[in-house]
Amino acid sequence: MQAGYRHIDCAQVYGNEKEIGFALKKVFDEGITSRQDLFITSKLWWCTNHAPEDVPVALDGTLQDLQTDYVDLYLVHWPIRMKKGAGFSPENVIPADIPATWAAMEGLYDSGKARAIGVSNFSCKKLEELLAAARVPPAANQVECHPVWQQAKLRDLCASKGIHFSAYSPLGSPGTFKAFSVLEHPVVVSAAEKLGKTPAQVALRWGIQAGHSVLPKSTHEERIRANFDVFDWSIPSDLFASFSEIEQTRLIRGKFWTHPEGVFKSEEEIWDGEI
Ligand code: A2P
Repeated sequence: MQAGYRHIDCAQVYGNEKEIGFALKKVFDEGITSRQDLFITSKLWWCTNHAPEDVPVALDGTLQDLQTDYVDLYLVHWPIRMKKGAGFSPENVIPADIPATWAAMEGLYDSGKARAIGVSNFSCKKLEELLAAARVPPAANQVECHPVWQQAKLRDLCASKGIHFSAYSPLGSPGTFKAFSVLEHPVVVSAAEKLGKTPAQVALRWGIQAGHSVLPKSTHEERIRANFDVFDWSIPSDLFASFSEIEQTRLIRGKFWTHPEGVFKSEEEIWDGEI
């Protein structure tokens, strides 16, 4: 908070909303910032709370844990439904009813407990289907995006429909995934060397210049501060153009949702071929 961050990206499934609530209370009590100066996002773990009657209960739990009476943005975490109360296993995935769950999300918007509602991990196809059924269109789609998975088609669709595009894993989640390294990619490293910045700063600045918001995470103070230092410089257009040459690979493929006899038999089915 002292470094300047004002957007807190939470989710029920992260299992730490109580701790975040305590931390928020502390910064408010100390006068470091106030609730109205923060933008708090949380996400419906619709995988098990997708039934319309479970949606407001899930948000109430989140609000209680965060010690607030509204979130600025509430997202459907995945377009995937699991049996109620079921464990995190592909065998527990059942067919989703996105319009029914979305109608319950619209109820939260009407109540004011969610000042905006949106989605996460939605492909172009799923977003179009939702738009066709929605009374309140989704305000945002939060998805994986970084120089090695740039999501040009999805970004264009969001821009054309007025849906805010937000990037998770903007650094390629180096601590979690080893499949490839965004921060060691030669185009990113070379741009960082030319600009006298770190590869992480370049990856984040690339996202901001591409026109979307970025959600970097770090547990180290010096990185938290450095990752915020991306607003008073830019990647020159010739260097920015070189990012379009990067071979594209999706990092978070959703394999954990697939099962040979399941609703999603392959990663292609989860992402509607956008993989
Ligand atoms: P740490 O918490 O040890 O700093 P993403 O936001 O793409 O999911 O990436 C988060 C991961 O990136 C975390 O494991 C975090 O580790 C690491 N990280 C955050 N900032 C930096 C940075 N500036 N340089 C290298 N790694 C970073």
